[in-house]
Amino acid sequence: MEGKDLEFAVNGERFKVNSVDPSTTLLEFLRFNTPFKSVKLGCSEGGCGACLVMLSKHDPDSDQVKEHSINSCLTLLCSINGCSITTSEGLGNTKKGFHPIHNRFAGFHASQCGFCTPGMCISLYSALSNAHINHNNTLTVSEAEKAIAGNLCRCTGYRPIVDACKSFAADVDIEDLGLNSFWKKGDSKEVMVKSLPPYNPDDHLVTRLFPEFLKKKKKVRNGLDHSRYHWTTPFCVNELCNVLESANSVGSLKLVVGNTGSGYYKDEERFDRYVDISHIPEMSMIKKDENGIEIGAAVTISDVIDALKDSDFEKMAAHMEKIGNHSIRNSASIGGNLVMAQSRKFPSDITTLLLAADASVFMLNVREIEKVKLQEFLDLPPILDTKRVLLKVDIPAWTAPSRDDTELLFETYRAAPRSIGNALPYVNAAFFARVSHSGRGVVVNKCLLAFGSYGGDHSIRATEVEHFLTGILLSHSVLYEAMGLLRGIIVPSKDTSYPEYRKALAVGFLFEFCYPLIGNNGHRICSSLDSGEKHSNGHVDHTESLPFLSSSQQVVESDEFQPVGEAVIKAGAALQASGEAVFVDDIPTLPNCLHGAFIYSTEPLAKIKSISFSENVTPTGVFALLTFKDIPQQGQNIGSKTVFGPGPLFADELTRCAGQRIALVVADTQKHADRAAKLAVVEYDIKNLEEEPILTVEDAVKRSSFFEVHPMFYPEPVGDVLHGMKEADRKILLAEFRLGSQYFFYMEPQTALALPDEDNCIKVFSSSQAPEYVHSVIATCLGIPEHNVRVITRRVGGGFGGKAVKSMPVATACALAAHKLQRPVKMYLNRKTDMIMAGGRHPMKVTYNVGFRSDGKLTALELTMLIDAGIEPDVSPILPRNIMGPLRKYDWGALSFDVKVCKTNLPSRTAMRAPGEVQGSYIAESIIENVASFLHMEADEVRKINLHTYHSLGKFYKHISGEAEEYTLPLLWDKVEISSEFKKRGEMVKEFNKCNVWRKRGLSRVPIVHQVMQRATPGRVSILSDGSVVVEVGGIEIGQGLWTKVKQMVAYGLGLMKCTGSDKLLEKVRVVQADTLGLIQGGFTAGSTTSENSCEAVRLCCVILVERLKPTMDQLKSGSVTWNMLIQQAYAKSVNLSASALYTPEFSSMEYLNYGVGVSEVEVDVLTGKTEILRSDIIYDCGKSLNPAVDLGQVEGAFVQGIGFFMMEEYTTDEKGLVVQQGTWDYKIPTVDTIPKKFFVEILNTGHHKNRVLSSKASGEPPLLLAASVHCATRSAIREARRQSLSWDCNDGDRDVSGADFELPVPATMPVVKGLCGLYSVEKYLEGKICGK
Ligand SMILES: Cc1cc2nc3c(=O)[nH]c(=O)nc-3n(C[C@H](O)[C@H](O)[C@H](O)COP(=O)(O)OP(=O)(O)OC[C@H]3O[C@@H](n4cnc5c(N)ncnc54)[C@H](O)[C@@H]3O)c2cc1C
Ligand code: FES
Ligand code: FES
Repeated sequence: MEGKDLEFAVNGERFKVNSVDPSTTLLEFLRFNTPFKSVKLGCSEGGCGACLVMLSKHDPDSDQVKEHSINSCLTLLCSINGCSITTSEGLGNTKKGFHPIHNRFAGFHASQCGFCTPGMCISLYSALSNAHINHNNTLTVSEAEKAIAGNLCRCTGYRPIVDACKSFAADVDIEDLGLNSFWKKGDSKEVMVKSLPPYNPDDHLVTRLFPEFLKKKKKVRNGLDHSRYHWTTPFCVNELCNVLESANSVGSLKLVVGNTGSGYYKDEERFDRYVDISHIPEMSMIKKDENGIEIGAAVTISDVIDALKDSDFEKMAAHMEKIGNHSIRNSASIGGNLVMAQSRKFPSDITTLLLAADASVFMLNVREIEKVKLQEFLDLPPILDTKRVLLKVDIPAWTAPSRDDTELLFETYRAAPRSIGNALPYVNAAFFARVSHSGRGVVVNKCLLAFGSYGGDHSIRATEVEHFLTGILLSHSVLYEAMGLLRGIIVPSKDTSYPEYRKALAVGFLFEFCYPLIGNNGHRICSSLDSGEKHSNGHVDHTESLPFLSSSQQVVESDEFQPVGEAVIKAGAALQASGEAVFVDDIPTLPNCLHGAFIYSTEPLAKIKSISFSENVTPTGVFALLTFKDIPQQGQNIGSKTVFGPGPLFADELTRCAGQRIALVVADTQKHADRAAKLAVVEYDIKNLEEEPILTVEDAVKRSSFFEVHPMFYPEPVGDVLHGMKEADRKILLAEFRLGSQYFFYMEPQTALALPDEDNCIKVFSSSQAPEYVHSVIATCLGIPEHNVRVITRRVGGGFGGKAVKSMPVATACALAAHKLQRPVKMYLNRKTDMIMAGGRHPMKVTYNVGFRSDGKLTALELTMLIDAGIEPDVSPILPRNIMGPLRKYDWGALSFDVKVCKTNLPSRTAMRAPGEVQGSYIAESIIENVASFLHMEADEVRKINLHTYHSLGKFYKHISGEAEEYTLPLLWDKVEISSEFKKRGEMVKEFNKCNVWRKRGLSRVPIVHQVMQRATPGRVSILSDGSVVVEVGGIEIGQGLWTKVKQMVAYGLGLMKCTGSDKLLEKVRVVQADTLGLIQGGFTAGSTTSENSCEAVRLCCVILVERLKPTMDQLKSGSVTWNMLIQQAYAKSVNLSASALYTPEFSSMEYLNYGVGVSEVEVDVLTGKTEILRSDIIYDCGKSLNPAVDLGQVEGAFVQGIGFFMMEEYTTDEKGLVVQQGTWDYKIPTVDTIPKKFFVEILNTGHHKNRVLSSKASGEPPLLLAASVHCATRSAIREARRQSLSWDCNDGDRDVSGADFELPVPATMPVVKGLCGLYSVEKYLEGKICGK
């Protein structure tokens, strides 16, 4: 029955599926049933964009193709019947040629690890396609920037991605685009334009060619054969009624449109049948007339936006553009949103907007159609339980004001961690009002005030406030009273985070709406909050579009060691963009491959009595359940190891932290394994424990639970602190603050594939930064010699430290299962499990005494630090050393410290990019800020006074401080002062703060001194008979450009042969995957120096090869000798053309210091706590950069990851120590809308550095520390807000604490910032007005 088959196209290829589980997603199908791998699984929640594809639908009636991007992780396979899907490799690929999008991504250096890149390319493609269809092919810069809003990238910091996107915009000024490989500095605009890989919509909008075989597919009215697909598609309301009536006989039913709801609710339930309601005409129409607008419930949010634009409801459309992101809105239906809000308390924006618009809904109830007001609909019992169907929404037209003095107002508000980057709001609001103006002021005739997402059951109307305001002349005291009423109405439920903040937001929104109507003639002046008073209020524009991102980069390319020093394109960048680059999960699995999922503990300390499955039924597909008891007798229960000791693979009889691995469930598919792990029931005994779990550092101190720190990792104090304190004429004593954790959020979750081999051997593909250690742990666990194990790592989809120690148990568990079951076993951790087990950065508590003189000169610092290391040692004992490195960036006079590494019953923390260093550097800044505040001085002045001289640098860093000319920090400090116009902008900030009440700005300059250490690293270079070169190195390509630098170094090293055409050597070099049996002693890829170490290792190999090739060269020297001639001759003479070396750095110079300075300016919205980074200027000393494009990428990416740490990312544990944030819904890394609006980066070439690899310096981690400048600038802006708040004080001083002395926690999220600016700021302001201040 042809027409009833599920048939569709992927990249033009025909796919026919005979039967399928209807819950199968498009992503599952693409990844497991097609050769296409560019769709990546980053979250399964619609929250990352790694899985995007283009969906094209052909309408046979109009012969038109409609297309847009969708999230394949949420789209159900059956719903794409008859459609054509295009993935990034479908746009272009190695075989048929890359697409200009791919080439431009590569040339703008917009791909680092490459895991996000195919999704980014699809987002851009979708914007281009949309521009072609709707705007005559003219993509604007603004659209280009917004194209990737909501796509996550953890590596690049977005700037180069935005440049790649903007390069397609018709209105782009080509000179504004950043560093790229297409043109050189100084080229004319014409040359620049011509150098870009050409884009021609006729050739490159490949999806316009809809496959003919699908066009011919008969349009079958009754859809798929439901006996095979369990999928029904009613084509009219009557058919839908029939389906619903048959519900009881066919089992459970689920109605679906876009299925995006499953990204939030992650269906636990299995349904017997799915009903696709998107083909019913009444539910898919939009009807506009003089009475208003009717919208079918199955209409997508994107289509609703289009319909509402250019109408009275324009502001609603603008608000809806902040829902999810493009691809979500393309699939998500308005009805699905309303039903989720109604039945499952989803924090919807749409219900709030529609409540303020006085909308009604039509519902199908059995065969009756009911019309009810939205408010009543929301108050009904959950309609999902009653099988009622939402048919359409009706928004009534607004009657135009009949009198001149009457005005209609409609505004919407939304406060979310990311404005357009896919984040649910803390609170949203929409207000409608009809007001009339009289000589006395403004009277509200009617108003509808809707609030949502604040933690109530659903959006509500604040009717009490509406009644109160109606018919009344607006005044300060009226508004004050209305806000009081509102506080009583906005009551978040008990488990809602930040309830007081949410109330304050709601009140702030009402204030924003009403305040401009008070006083003077009461006219709303544009949409500004300017009250006509001395101080402008500074409008908080919640609907503003993303301001253009402007950036500049200054890098110095050097030709001394060509091609080292050139901004060469990252190796394999285009391959990453097309999605052909192979990550572990992309390796095709064998048919008998099994899949594993961890069962983890939910108790911090408990005896494990039993592990079973829910209702004692073994879930579908389960093959085995492994625990520590399954470890071979000759092996050990070991899952990780570092120099500080091992960690267990599984809990034994006792679990020691929530999140600890208890067992591995092995099943036929990853989906089944994950489901079974969820259904696992672990019985604990917590009654008969000898001791309580340790869940805080304070508990650890009480119980003396510490990890030992070897003196090697415990730096010496500096000077005499007692003496320093005596010298001080001012002191801050026993000041205390805490620092939180951070999750890596590598885009590729932890993954491994193990293959059993003959003779008790095992091969494991692991996404690891430390394959050598993975190798050794596996051998120890299985009790086999190390030569029986082989670990292979080609590339890692982002590591940031999280794929070092934490990758080991994943690979080991796979190996154990494969070894035991003698079948291949793969694991791909879902994001939730990954987040629960990752541990992340070390939280800590800091207490200090600091002594200083009244001019700001520091004399002594005494620190006590309690570091929460969790349950295993991991690498935590290095923390004291790492913290104290960057903390010594100032001349403290004298410094002493007591650092304890606490062992707690919490997940073990590990090294995350700049581990300890970012905290150490920040601690120093925090102390400086407090000293400055104490002395009423500018923090910048205190910083400057205490910057090291070369002499004091030597006192604090001893031999690491290097030569005097290498101490470039004072130079950078001064340079950035000029380039950032620091002084002038400081004055402008002061002026701005004087003139604005509700917006405050801050500016801060922060220096860094970051110590790194080189380590022994191996390399091997082999020249093949055709002259091509294959290179192996100990370092792993984790997106940091290691392979690229290594390639450059090999081309340079072999280029010293000076053959004719040596400049083409770079193209001949290929770096291949790490293989722990091929090249041993690879060590850890960590600490920022692995690239330079690997480069040095291969340089040494090249020296050997050049030496061996010289005699042949000398013999050939008659005229010009080409590389290939030389190699052919060397082969003929049996010259050994493979050389290996282990680079071992000189002990005396293996550590060195890196310097940089960052200046950031922020603007804080005092009403919402939102911090916008207006501008950041970075200057970083890279020595002679090995590849300025790669180093620039590291600087920008690290800085943005630092912004995440300081401003956004909350990674906390609950009272049992279980990680609270478990996915993209509640863990918010920066997106394109949260990076600095102006982002200027300069990489300084500071000339010759004697002991460094070709004079280069590290760039991977130090720039992350510079993001403290954003935090410090925020602190300064908040200080201004608090100062201002003092001036409003009438009588109730203690509702909000004001004043200059405060600690700004890390991360400084919106609730935190608002809390410090004042949760009652608007009330206080009005009180001030009322009492005449
Ligand atoms: C990443 C992401 C970000 C988001 N961000 C926001 C946001 O910022 N603000 C916001 O308001 N929303 C947001 N949403 C929610 C989004 O708007 C909804 O998921 C979407 O509108 C649901 O529509 P759907 O067609 O995908 O519904 P489906 O997932 O297909 O269905 C959802 C539920 O409703 C039922 N259902 C669907 N239609 C009907 C109907 N007509 N009658 C009866 N039952 C029905 C289904 O059975 C199902 O239980 C976000 C969603 C995602 C995935
Ligand atoms: S995997 Fe689909 S959005 Fe993340
Ligand atoms: S390049 Fe974007 S996540 Fe790595």
